[in-house]
Amino acid sequence: MHTIIEPFKIKSVEPIFFTTKEERISILQKAFYNPFLIHAKDVLIDLLTDSGTSAMSSHQWAGIMEGDESYAGSESFFHFEKTVKDITGMPIIIPTHQGRAAEKILFSIIGGKGKFIVSNTLFDTTRANIEFSGAEGVDLLCKEGKLPEVPASFKGNLDIDALKKFITEKGAATIPLCIITITNNSGGGHPVSMQNIKEVKKICVENNIPLFIDACRFAENSYFIKLRENGYANKSVAEIARELFSYADGCTMSAKKDAFANIGGFLALHDKNMADKCRNLLIMTEGFPTYGGLAGRDLEAIAIGLNEVMDEHYLQYRIRSIEYITEKLVAAGVPVMQPAGGHAVYLDAKKFLPHIPVEQYPGQALVGDLYVEGGIRSVEIGSLMFGKYDENKKLIPAQMELVRLAIPRRVYTQSHIDYVAEVIIEVFTKRNEIKGLEIIEEAPMLRHFTAKLKTTTNHTNDTK
Ligand code: F0G
Repeated sequence: MHTIIEPFKIKSVEPIFFTTKEERISILQKAFYNPFLIHAKDVLIDLLTDSGTSAMSSHQWAGIMEGDESYAGSESFFHFEKTVKDITGMPIIIPTHQGRAAEKILFSIIGGKGKFIVSNTLFDTTRANIEFSGAEGVDLLCKEGKLPEVPASFKGNLDIDALKKFITEKGAATIPLCIITITNNSGGGHPVSMQNIKEVKKICVENNIPLFIDACRFAENSYFIKLRENGYANKSVAEIARELFSYADGCTMSAKKDAFANIGGFLALHDKNMADKCRNLLIMTEGFPTYGGLAGRDLEAIAIGLNEVMDEHYLQYRIRSIEYITEKLVAAGVPVMQPAGGHAVYLDAKKFLPHIPVEQYPGQALVGDLYVEGGIRSVEIGSLMFGKYDENKKLIPAQMELVRLAIPRRVYTQSHIDYVAEVIIEVFTKRNEIKGLEIIEEAPMLRHFTAKLKTTTNHTNDTK
Protein backbone atom coordinates (compact mmCIF):
# COMPACT_ATOMS: atom_id res chain seq x y z
CA MET A 1 0.00 0.00 0.00
CA HIS A 2 1.26 3.49 -0.85
CA THR A 3 1.52 6.45 1.51
CA ILE A 4 -1.87 8.01 2.16
CA ILE A 5 -1.42 11.49 0.73
CA GLU A 6 -3.07 14.87 1.29
CA PRO A 7 -6.03 14.72 -1.13
CA PHE A 8 -5.51 18.31 -2.32
CA LYS A 9 -2.91 20.56 -3.84
CA ILE A 10 -2.10 24.02 -2.53
CA LYS A 11 -3.27 27.08 -4.45
CA SER A 12 -2.77 29.82 -1.90
CA VAL A 13 -0.30 29.90 1.00
CA GLU A 14 -0.01 31.82 4.23
CA PRO A 15 3.32 32.52 6.00
CA ILE A 16 4.08 31.17 9.46
CA PHE A 17 6.26 33.12 11.86
CA PHE A 18 9.52 32.07 13.44
CA THR A 19 10.70 33.27 16.87
CA THR A 20 13.69 32.33 19.03
CA LYS A 21 13.43 30.31 22.22
CA GLU A 22 14.44 33.39 24.27
CA GLU A 23 11.65 35.40 22.65
CA ARG A 24 9.14 32.66 23.38
CA ILE A 25 10.13 32.46 27.06
CA SER A 26 9.35 36.16 27.37
CA ILE A 27 6.15 35.92 25.28
CA LEU A 28 4.85 33.09 27.46
CA GLN A 29 5.54 35.02 30.66
CA LYS A 30 3.78 38.08 29.27
CA ALA A 31 0.84 35.84 28.33
CA PHE A 32 0.71 34.54 31.92
CA TYR A 33 1.32 30.95 30.79
CA ASN A 34 -2.03 30.95 29.00
CA PRO A 35 -1.90 30.01 25.29
CA PHE A 36 -5.14 31.91 24.63
CA LEU A 37 -3.30 35.12 25.54
CA ILE A 38 -0.46 34.62 23.02
CA HIS A 39 -0.73 36.55 19.75
CA ALA A 40 -1.14 34.23 16.76
CA LYS A 41 1.80 35.84 14.97
CA ASP A 42 4.05 34.56 17.77
CA VAL A 43 3.02 30.95 17.10
CA LEU A 44 4.80 28.70 14.61
CA ILE A 45 2.45 25.71 14.45
CA ASP A 46 -0.97 26.49 15.83
CA LEU A 47 -2.68 23.41 17.24
CA LEU A 48 -4.80 25.32 19.75
CA THR A 49 -7.94 24.19 17.99
CA ASP A 50 -9.38 22.59 14.88
CA SER A 51 -12.29 25.04 15.18
CA GLY A 52 -12.70 27.69 12.51
CA THR A 53 -9.13 27.04 11.38
CA SER A 54 -9.77 24.83 8.34
CA ALA A 55 -8.46 25.69 4.91
CA MET A 56 -11.50 26.27 2.73
CA SER A 57 -11.55 24.77 -0.76
CA SER A 58 -11.55 26.80 -3.98
CA HIS A 59 -15.18 25.68 -4.34
CA GLN A 60 -16.02 27.17 -0.93
CA TRP A 61 -14.24 30.43 -1.79
CA ALA A 62 -16.24 30.60 -5.00
CA GLY A 63 -19.37 30.08 -2.86
CA ILE A 64 -18.31 33.00 -0.67
CA MET A 65 -18.40 35.24 -3.75
CA GLU A 66 -21.83 33.91 -4.71
CA GLY A 67 -23.35 34.28 -1.23
CA ASP A 68 -26.76 35.93 -1.27
CA GLU A 69 -26.79 38.65 1.38
CA SER A 70 -30.55 39.24 1.43
CA TYR A 71 -31.86 39.79 4.95
CA ALA A 72 -34.80 37.43 4.48
CA GLY A 73 -35.18 34.39 2.25
CA SER A 74 -31.60 34.32 0.96
CA GLU A 75 -30.78 31.66 -1.67
CA SER A 76 -27.72 30.76 0.37
CA PHE A 77 -29.99 29.93 3.32
CA PHE A 78 -32.04 27.53 1.20
CA HIS A 79 -28.88 25.85 -0.07
CA PHE A 80 -27.66 25.52 3.53
CA GLU A 81 -31.05 24.31 4.78
CA LYS A 82 -31.40 21.65 2.09
CA THR A 83 -27.88 20.36 2.73
CA VAL A 84 -28.41 20.06 6.49
CA LYS A 85 -31.83 18.43 5.99
CA ASP A 86 -30.32 15.89 3.59
CA ILE A 87 -27.55 14.96 6.01
CA THR A 88 -29.56 14.91 9.25
CA GLY A 89 -33.03 14.01 8.01
CA MET A 90 -34.33 16.68 10.42
CA PRO A 91 -37.06 18.97 9.13
CA ILE A 92 -36.31 22.20 11.02
CA ILE A 93 -32.95 23.89 10.58
CA ILE A 94 -31.98 27.00 12.53
CA PRO A 95 -28.68 28.72 11.66
CA THR A 96 -26.58 30.24 14.45
CA HIS A 97 -23.29 32.10 14.45
CA GLN A 98 -21.50 29.15 16.03
CA GLY A 99 -22.09 26.01 18.07
CA ARG A 100 -22.35 27.65 21.47
CA ALA A 101 -25.10 29.99 20.22
CA ALA A 102 -27.18 26.92 19.37
CA GLU A 103 -26.40 25.56 22.85
CA LYS A 104 -27.34 28.83 24.52
CA ILE A 105 -30.73 28.85 22.81
CA LEU A 106 -31.42 25.18 23.47
CA PHE A 107 -30.49 25.23 27.16
CA SER A 108 -32.23 28.55 27.83
CA ILE A 109 -35.39 26.73 26.80
CA ILE A 110 -34.99 23.30 28.34
CA GLY A 111 -32.52 23.97 31.19
CA GLY A 112 -33.19 25.43 34.63
CA LYS A 113 -32.67 24.72 38.30
CA GLY A 114 -33.21 21.16 39.51
CA LYS A 115 -32.67 19.65 36.04
CA PHE A 116 -29.93 17.35 34.79
CA ILE A 117 -28.54 17.15 31.25
CA VAL A 118 -26.80 13.81 30.73
CA SER A 119 -24.08 13.10 28.21
CA ASN A 120 -21.09 10.91 27.36
CA THR A 121 -18.96 14.04 27.97
CA LEU A 122 -20.12 17.63 27.62
CA PHE A 123 -17.80 20.05 25.88
CA ASP A 124 -16.80 23.07 27.99
CA THR A 125 -19.14 25.58 26.31
CA THR A 126 -22.00 23.07 26.43
CA ARG A 127 -21.48 22.51 30.13
CA ALA A 128 -21.20 26.26 30.74
CA ASN A 129 -24.47 26.96 28.92
CA ILE A 130 -26.21 24.20 30.89
CA GLU A 131 -24.88 25.50 34.19
CA PHE A 132 -25.68 29.11 33.29
CA SER A 133 -29.33 28.03 32.91
CA GLY A 134 -29.21 26.64 36.48
CA ALA A 135 -29.22 22.99 35.40
CA GLU A 136 -26.48 20.47 36.09
CA GLY A 137 -24.41 18.70 33.42
CA VAL A 138 -23.63 15.02 34.04
CA ASP A 139 -20.91 13.08 32.20
CA LEU A 140 -21.49 9.32 32.01
CA LEU A 141 -18.54 8.16 29.91
CA CYS A 142 -17.84 4.45 29.53
CA LYS A 143 -15.05 3.07 31.73
CA GLU A 144 -12.51 2.52 28.95
CA GLY A 145 -12.95 6.16 27.91
CA LYS A 146 -11.34 7.23 31.18
CA LEU A 147 -8.20 5.12 30.71
CA PRO A 148 -5.92 7.08 28.37
CA GLU A 149 -3.54 4.29 27.43
CA VAL A 150 -6.03 1.45 27.08
CA PRO A 151 -7.02 1.14 23.43
CA ALA A 152 -10.64 0.40 22.49
CA SER A 153 -12.65 1.08 19.35
CA PHE A 154 -15.34 3.34 20.78
CA LYS A 155 -14.02 5.12 23.83
CA GLY A 156 -16.58 7.88 23.38
CA ASN A 157 -19.50 5.59 24.28
CA LEU A 158 -21.95 6.56 26.98
CA ASP A 159 -22.05 4.15 29.93
CA ILE A 160 -25.45 2.47 29.53
CA ASP A 161 -25.62 1.04 33.06
CA ALA A 162 -24.67 4.40 34.57
CA LEU A 163 -27.41 6.05 32.49
CA LYS A 164 -30.07 3.59 33.73
CA LYS A 165 -28.88 4.04 37.31
CA PHE A 166 -28.89 7.82 37.03
CA ILE A 167 -32.43 7.85 35.64
CA THR A 168 -33.63 5.55 38.44
CA GLU A 169 -31.97 7.70 41.09
CA LYS A 170 -33.02 11.15 39.89
CA GLY A 171 -36.23 10.33 38.04
CA ALA A 172 -36.73 10.82 34.30
CA ALA A 173 -38.78 13.95 34.90
CA THR A 174 -35.66 15.80 36.07
CA ILE A 175 -33.80 15.00 32.83
CA PRO A 176 -35.04 17.18 29.94
CA LEU A 177 -32.32 16.02 27.54
CA CYS A 178 -29.58 13.51 26.85
CA ILE A 179 -26.89 14.78 24.46
CA ILE A 180 -24.19 12.62 22.90
CA THR A 181 -21.02 14.38 21.75
CA ILE A 182 -19.57 12.89 18.56
CA THR A 183 -16.64 12.52 18.54
CA ASN A 184 -15.95 12.96 22.23
CA ASN A 185 -13.74 16.05 22.10
CA SER A 186 -13.02 16.41 25.82
CA GLY A 187 -12.18 12.72 26.16
CA GLY A 188 -9.70 12.14 23.35
CA GLY A 189 -11.71 12.76 20.17
CA HIS A 190 -12.91 9.18 20.31
CA PRO A 191 -15.98 7.98 18.44
CA VAL A 192 -19.32 6.72 19.69
CA SER A 193 -20.60 3.50 18.11
CA MET A 194 -23.92 3.22 16.30
CA GLN A 195 -24.79 0.41 18.71
CA ASN A 196 -24.28 2.74 21.67
CA ILE A 197 -26.40 5.48 20.12
CA LYS A 198 -29.17 2.92 19.49
CA GLU A 199 -29.03 1.65 23.08
CA VAL A 200 -29.12 5.19 24.49
CA LYS A 201 -32.04 5.98 22.21
CA LYS A 202 -33.97 2.95 23.49
CA ILE A 203 -33.52 4.04 27.12
CA CYS A 204 -34.44 7.63 26.23
CA VAL A 205 -37.63 6.49 24.50
CA GLU A 206 -38.61 4.30 27.47
CA ASN A 207 -38.18 7.30 29.76
CA ASN A 208 -39.52 9.97 27.48
CA ILE A 209 -36.21 11.86 27.35
CA PRO A 210 -35.32 13.56 24.05
CA LEU A 211 -31.96 12.53 22.57
CA PHE A 212 -29.76 15.16 20.92
CA ILE A 213 -26.39 14.91 19.21
CA ASP A 214 -23.59 17.42 19.52
CA ALA A 215 -22.60 16.87 15.91
CA CYS A 216 -19.43 19.01 15.52
CA ARG A 217 -17.39 16.10 14.21
CA PHE A 218 -20.12 13.87 12.76
CA ALA A 219 -18.17 12.95 9.63
CA GLU A 220 -15.08 11.83 11.54
CA ASN A 221 -17.32 9.79 13.87
CA SER A 222 -19.18 8.25 10.92
CA TYR A 223 -15.91 7.27 9.25
CA PHE A 224 -14.74 5.54 12.45
CA ILE A 225 -18.01 3.58 12.45
CA LYS A 226 -17.32 2.54 8.86
CA LEU A 227 -13.81 1.37 9.80
CA ARG A 228 -14.51 -0.22 13.16
CA GLU A 229 -18.12 -1.33 13.56
CA ASN A 230 -19.51 -4.56 12.14
CA GLY A 231 -21.92 -4.11 9.27
CA TYR A 232 -20.82 -0.64 8.12
CA ALA A 233 -17.75 -1.31 5.94
CA ASN A 234 -19.78 -1.13 2.74
CA LYS A 235 -21.94 1.86 3.66
CA SER A 236 -21.06 5.37 2.60
CA VAL A 237 -20.26 7.98 5.24
CA ALA A 238 -23.38 9.88 4.17
CA GLU A 239 -25.51 6.76 4.79
CA ILE A 240 -23.90 6.19 8.18
CA ALA A 241 -24.40 9.83 9.17
CA ARG A 242 -28.02 9.66 8.08
CA GLU A 243 -28.62 6.56 10.20
CA LEU A 244 -26.87 8.11 13.18
CA PHE A 245 -29.00 11.25 13.03
CA SER A 246 -32.16 9.16 12.55
CA TYR A 247 -31.97 8.14 16.24
CA ALA A 248 -31.84 11.75 17.43
CA ASP A 249 -34.61 14.22 18.16
CA GLY A 250 -32.31 17.08 17.36
CA CYS A 251 -28.72 18.22 17.13
CA THR A 252 -26.44 21.16 17.73
CA MET A 253 -23.50 21.71 15.43
CA SER A 254 -20.49 23.95 15.19
CA ALA A 255 -19.81 24.36 11.45
CA LYS A 256 -16.30 25.46 12.43
CA LYS A 257 -15.30 21.80 12.61
CA ASP A 258 -16.71 19.23 10.16
CA ALA A 259 -18.00 21.84 7.71
CA PHE A 260 -14.60 23.42 6.97
CA ALA A 261 -16.10 26.85 7.70
CA ASN A 262 -14.39 29.65 9.59
CA ILE A 263 -17.61 30.51 11.42
CA GLY A 264 -21.14 29.13 11.78
CA GLY A 265 -23.36 26.57 13.41
CA PHE A 266 -26.92 25.33 13.62
CA LEU A 267 -29.64 23.70 15.62
CA ALA A 268 -31.67 21.01 13.85
CA LEU A 269 -34.93 19.68 15.26
CA HIS A 270 -38.07 17.63 14.75
CA ASP A 271 -40.29 19.25 17.37
CA LYS A 272 -42.18 22.27 16.00
CA ASN A 273 -43.14 23.59 19.43
CA MET A 274 -39.58 23.64 20.58
CA ALA A 275 -38.45 25.13 17.28
CA ASP A 276 -40.89 28.02 17.67
CA LYS A 277 -39.43 28.82 21.08
CA CYS A 278 -35.91 28.56 19.70
CA ARG A 279 -36.69 30.89 16.81
CA ASN A 280 -38.14 33.51 19.16
CA LEU A 281 -34.88 33.56 21.08
CA LEU A 282 -32.89 33.42 17.85
CA ILE A 283 -34.48 36.60 16.53
CA MET A 284 -33.60 38.39 19.76
CA THR A 285 -30.01 37.22 20.02
CA GLU A 286 -28.75 35.94 16.66
CA GLY A 287 -30.89 37.27 13.84
CA PHE A 288 -33.74 36.47 11.49
CA PRO A 289 -34.26 32.70 11.00
CA THR A 290 -32.86 32.68 7.45
CA TYR A 291 -29.45 33.95 8.52
CA GLY A 292 -29.13 33.47 12.32
CA GLY A 293 -26.06 35.58 12.95
CA LEU A 294 -24.30 34.61 9.73
CA ALA A 295 -23.64 36.31 6.44
CA GLY A 296 -25.15 34.67 3.36
CA ARG A 297 -21.62 33.87 2.21
CA ASP A 298 -20.99 31.87 5.40
CA LEU A 299 -24.13 29.81 4.83
CA GLU A 300 -22.90 29.07 1.32
CA ALA A 301 -19.43 28.01 2.55
CA ILE A 302 -21.01 25.73 5.19
CA ALA A 303 -23.33 24.07 2.67
CA ILE A 304 -20.42 23.27 0.36
CA GLY A 305 -18.12 22.21 3.23
CA LEU A 306 -20.68 19.78 4.65
CA ASN A 307 -20.64 17.83 1.42
CA GLU A 308 -16.86 17.97 1.00
CA VAL A 309 -16.24 16.62 4.51
CA MET A 310 -17.97 13.33 3.73
CA ASP A 311 -15.51 12.55 0.90
CA GLU A 312 -13.83 9.32 1.93
CA HIS A 313 -10.42 10.16 0.44
CA TYR A 314 -10.44 13.19 2.67
CA LEU A 315 -11.56 11.24 5.76
CA GLN A 316 -9.02 8.49 5.15
CA TYR A 317 -6.25 11.11 5.02
CA ARG A 318 -7.66 12.96 8.02
CA ILE A 319 -7.89 9.96 10.32
CA ARG A 320 -4.53 8.61 9.10
CA SER A 321 -2.76 11.90 9.80
CA ILE A 322 -3.78 11.79 13.48
CA GLU A 323 -2.81 8.13 13.68
CA TYR A 324 0.57 8.94 12.08
CA ILE A 325 1.66 11.38 14.78
CA THR A 326 0.20 9.20 17.55
CA GLU A 327 2.26 6.22 16.31
CA LYS A 328 5.47 8.29 16.32
CA LEU A 329 4.86 9.41 19.89
CA VAL A 330 3.95 5.94 21.13
CA ALA A 331 7.14 4.55 19.56
CA ALA A 332 9.15 7.12 21.54
CA GLY A 333 7.41 6.14 24.79
CA VAL A 334 5.44 9.40 25.12
CA PRO A 335 2.21 8.81 27.08
CA VAL A 336 -0.64 9.58 24.67
CA MET A 337 -4.32 8.77 24.58
CA GLN A 338 -4.87 5.58 22.58
CA PRO A 339 -5.97 4.76 20.02
CA ALA A 340 -5.65 7.95 17.95
CA GLY A 341 -8.79 10.09 17.93
CA GLY A 342 -10.34 11.92 15.00
CA HIS A 343 -9.07 15.48 15.20
CA ALA A 344 -6.29 15.71 17.73
CA VAL A 345 -3.50 14.03 19.63
CA TYR A 346 -3.96 14.04 23.39
CA LEU A 347 -0.94 13.79 25.65
CA ASP A 348 -1.50 12.30 29.09
CA ALA A 349 0.02 15.05 31.22
CA LYS A 350 -0.37 13.12 34.48
CA LYS A 351 1.93 10.42 33.16
CA PHE A 352 4.14 12.84 31.21
CA LEU A 353 4.82 14.97 34.33
CA PRO A 354 4.28 12.71 37.35
CA HIS A 355 6.31 15.12 39.51
CA ILE A 356 3.70 17.90 39.11
CA PRO A 357 0.57 17.42 41.27
CA VAL A 358 -2.84 18.16 39.72
CA GLU A 359 -3.12 21.28 41.91
CA GLN A 360 -0.20 22.69 39.88
CA TYR A 361 -1.86 22.04 36.52
CA PRO A 362 0.55 19.63 34.80
CA GLY A 363 -1.34 19.96 31.48
CA GLN A 364 -0.97 23.72 31.42
CA ALA A 365 2.71 23.43 32.36
CA LEU A 366 3.25 21.08 29.40
CA VAL A 367 1.38 23.43 27.06
CA GLY A 368 3.85 26.15 28.08
CA ASP A 369 6.90 24.02 27.46
CA LEU A 370 5.75 22.86 24.01
CA TYR A 371 5.44 26.52 23.11
CA VAL A 372 8.85 27.47 24.48
CA GLU A 373 10.65 24.51 22.86
CA GLY A 374 9.06 24.60 19.45
CA GLY A 375 6.59 27.47 19.06
CA ILE A 376 3.73 24.96 19.11
CA ARG A 377 0.44 26.11 20.60
CA SER A 378 -1.77 23.46 22.23
CA VAL A 379 -4.48 23.48 24.89
CA GLU A 380 -4.94 21.94 28.29
CA ILE A 381 -8.01 19.75 28.73
CA GLY A 382 -7.78 18.99 32.40
CA SER A 383 -8.19 20.66 35.76
CA LEU A 384 -7.69 24.21 34.49
CA MET A 385 -10.53 23.70 32.01
CA PHE A 386 -12.82 21.51 34.09
CA GLY A 387 -11.60 21.80 37.71
CA LYS A 388 -13.94 23.10 40.38
CA TYR A 389 -13.41 24.14 44.00
CA ASP A 390 -15.00 22.60 47.07
CA GLU A 391 -16.29 24.73 49.95
CA ASN A 392 -12.72 25.04 51.33
CA LYS A 393 -11.45 26.34 47.96
CA LYS A 394 -9.63 23.06 47.43
CA LEU A 395 -9.41 21.95 43.80
CA ILE A 396 -11.73 19.16 42.70
CA PRO A 397 -9.64 17.94 39.77
CA ALA A 398 -10.89 16.84 36.35
CA GLN A 399 -11.03 13.13 35.50
CA MET A 400 -7.95 13.37 33.27
CA GLU A 401 -5.12 15.83 32.72
CA LEU A 402 -4.73 16.00 28.95
CA VAL A 403 -2.97 18.28 26.50
CA ARG A 404 -4.71 18.46 23.15
CA LEU A 405 -2.88 19.17 19.93
CA ALA A 406 -5.77 19.69 17.53
CA ILE A 407 -4.93 19.43 13.86
CA PRO A 408 -6.66 22.07 11.71
CA ARG A 409 -8.29 20.53 8.63
CA ARG A 410 -6.31 20.63 5.36
CA VAL A 411 -3.82 23.17 6.80
CA TYR A 412 -0.53 21.51 7.74
CA THR A 413 1.55 19.05 5.72
CA GLN A 414 3.33 15.89 6.82
CA SER A 415 6.61 17.75 7.48
CA HIS A 416 4.83 20.13 9.87
CA ILE A 417 3.52 17.10 11.71
CA ASP A 418 6.98 15.47 11.76
CA TYR A 419 8.32 18.66 13.34
CA VAL A 420 5.58 18.61 16.00
CA ALA A 421 6.42 15.01 16.91
CA GLU A 422 10.14 15.90 17.17
CA VAL A 423 9.42 18.77 19.55
CA ILE A 424 7.12 16.68 21.78
CA ILE A 425 9.75 13.93 21.99
CA GLU A 426 12.42 16.51 22.85
CA VAL A 427 10.25 17.97 25.61
CA PHE A 428 9.61 14.44 26.88
CA THR A 429 13.34 13.78 27.30
CA LYS A 430 13.65 16.95 29.39
CA ARG A 431 10.36 16.58 31.26
CA ASN A 432 11.87 16.62 34.76
CA GLU A 433 12.83 20.27 34.30
CA ILE A 434 9.22 21.41 33.82
CA LYS A 435 7.72 23.31 36.76
CA GLY A 436 4.13 23.41 38.00
CA LEU A 437 1.92 26.50 37.81
CA GLU A 438 -0.41 28.42 40.09
CA ILE A 439 -3.34 30.64 39.20
CA ILE A 440 -3.09 34.34 39.97
CA GLU A 441 -6.34 35.48 38.34
CA GLU A 442 -9.41 33.62 37.06
CA ALA A 443 -13.01 34.09 35.90
CA PRO A 444 -15.90 32.24 37.60
CA MET A 445 -16.82 30.33 34.38
CA LEU A 446 -14.77 29.02 31.44
CA ARG A 447 -11.71 30.22 33.33
CA HIS A 448 -9.15 28.59 31.02
CA PHE A 449 -9.75 31.20 28.31
CA THR A 450 -8.59 34.14 30.42
CA ALA A 451 -6.85 32.76 33.54
CA LYS A 452 -3.45 34.19 34.44
CA LEU A 453 -0.83 31.85 35.89
CA LYS A 454 2.77 31.85 37.06
CA THR A 455 5.32 29.17 37.83
CA THR A 456 4.79 27.95 41.32
CA THR A 457 7.15 28.68 44.15
CA ASN A 458 5.91 25.64 46.01
CA HIS A 459 7.99 22.75 44.64
CA THR A 460 7.31 20.24 47.37
CA ASN A 461 6.60 17.50 44.84
CA ASP A 462 9.55 18.36 42.64
CA THR A 463 11.60 15.22 42.07
CA LYS A 464 14.71 17.12 41.07
N1 F0G B 1 -19.31 21.10 21.08
C1 F0G B 1 -18.09 20.55 20.88
C2 F0G B 1 -17.90 19.08 20.98
C3 F0G B 1 -17.00 21.39 20.55
O1 F0G B 1 -15.82 20.85 20.34
C4 F0G B 1 -17.23 22.79 20.46
C5 F0G B 1 -16.13 23.71 20.17
C6 F0G B 1 -18.52 23.29 20.67
C7 F0G B 1 -19.53 22.41 20.99
C8 F0G B 1 -18.84 24.76 20.57
O2 F0G B 1 -18.77 25.20 19.26
O3 F0G B 1 -16.89 26.84 19.20
O4 F0G B 1 -18.65 26.84 17.43
O5 F0G B 1 -19.18 27.62 19.69
N2 F0G B 1 -14.93 23.35 20.27
C9 F0G B 1 -13.74 24.16 19.99
C10 F0G B 1 -12.53 23.38 20.34
C11 F0G B 1 -13.77 25.54 20.52
O6 F0G B 1 -11.44 23.96 20.35
O7 F0G B 1 -12.63 22.17 20.55
P1 F0G B 1 -18.35 26.71 18.88
